[in-house]
Amino acid sequence: MSQRIKMGLLSELPPGRAIEKQILARKVAVFNDGGRLIGLESECKHMRASLVKGGAIKDGTLVCAWHGWKYDVGTGECTNVPGFKLKKYDIELDGDTIYLLLP
Ligand code: FES
Repeated sequence: MSQRIKMGLLSELPPGRAIEKQILARKVAVFNDGGRLIGLESECKHMRASLVKGGAIKDGTLVCAWHGWKYDVGTGECTNVPGFKLKKYDIELDGDTIYLLLP
């Protein structure tokens, strides 16, 4: 059974931005990629920097602000350093409220 985490309001999440939360030992985020909401683990696989703080999402790619590792937001796969992958999470919208589903 999954856990439903309230992340914030869609009306406060414009395209190109993200909402991040710490859930116990993990950081998760919802990204708005041009209107598409994407739930991802939000710690870079390189040195655990936040992919929300300073990270940019463009054309389906999330770029870490620290050293430029790139992630495909559709799959979570790191595209410039193969073998690393961010966890993906399902998102639910209930009216204006965004929920992330933790398995
Ligand atoms: S911490 Fe993200 S690329 Fe180094």
